[in-house]
Amino acid sequence: MVDQYIQNKVENFPPVRLEVGHFNIDEEKFIKGLSLIKESLGEFAKTIYSSDNMICWNRNYGFLRDPFYINILNDKELSLTDKAVVWRTYILVYFAKICTKLVGDYLELGTYEGHTAQVLTEKIDFNRLEKDYFLYDLFEWKEGDDHSPLDGLFNKNLYLEVCKKFNKNKNVKIIKGRVPDTLEDTIPDQIAFAHIDMNHWVPETAALEMILPKMPIGAVIIFDDYGWYCYHSQKVALDPIANKYGQEILELPTGQGILIKV
Ligand SMILES: C[S@@+](CC[C@H](N)C(=O)[O-])C[C@H]1O[C@@H](n2cnc3c(N)ncnc32)[C@H](O)[C@@H]1O
Repeated sequence: MVDQYIQNKVENFPPVRLEVGHFNIDEEKFIKGLSLIKESLGEFAKTIYSSDNMICWNRNYGFLRDPFYINILNDKELSLTDKAVVWRTYILVYFAKICTKLVGDYLELGTYEGHTAQVLTEKIDFNRLEKDYFLYDLFEWKEGDDHSPLDGLFNKNLYLEVCKKFNKNKNVKIIKGRVPDTLEDTIPDQIAFAHIDMNHWVPETAALEMILPKMPIGAVIIFDDYGWYCYHSQKVALDPIANKYGQEILELPTGQGILIKV
């Protein structure tokens, strides 16, 4: 006999859909094309997901059914980009939670305005776990710098605002300056999880060389940009380093790369 509880759940599992935004597109042409795609899908148009340079359909999108991610999408304080990358955020949280069972601290290399770091502090109680969460960033952009000149980096108060955002989390350590120099001075002895999101292969490769030897088996690194063609220099430069340590990076449809240390 089918369990009544499961039967009810199966019957009450409506389709969900999401359309937020994409990067580097001609918006007008894209909307026309998407409308044709939807026409072609019939019933499954109710399951369209169009965001963060991905279009898919006929998926469950478990995270879009979770109040935590629904709140992110409805949060008026968050940027369109923070919302567009919600599938990436879900993946980040999933792996960061798994790593709480390992020895070692957490790192975010490329903190910017602190969105992904804030999400992890909401999901993980670093204080209870007695783990530190180190957030690295330049928190500025100056003429001649080779990292992306993101709008927020021109906010003179960015560093102070990010410090304020985390001032109730005594286990969050914010380190201003250039990776890998800052990492050399402050890298913890053991690292359970790292999110690497600096949009540039030079500091990312230097960081990978320093981080990998300090990770226990099962530790995870998420590279935010590894699978994006516009950042293919990261894939080209990171793969040989991972291979040198007997590791492999998995490319995800979200454009992230995942390395689970074996
Ligand atoms: C895409 S943003 C990070 C976004 C953030 N992880 C989030 O999703 O909320 C990239 C950040 O990397 C930082 N960055 C780039 N190169 C860096 C370097 N060599 N050292 C430290 N930070 C760097 C930039 O200042 C920028 O804030």
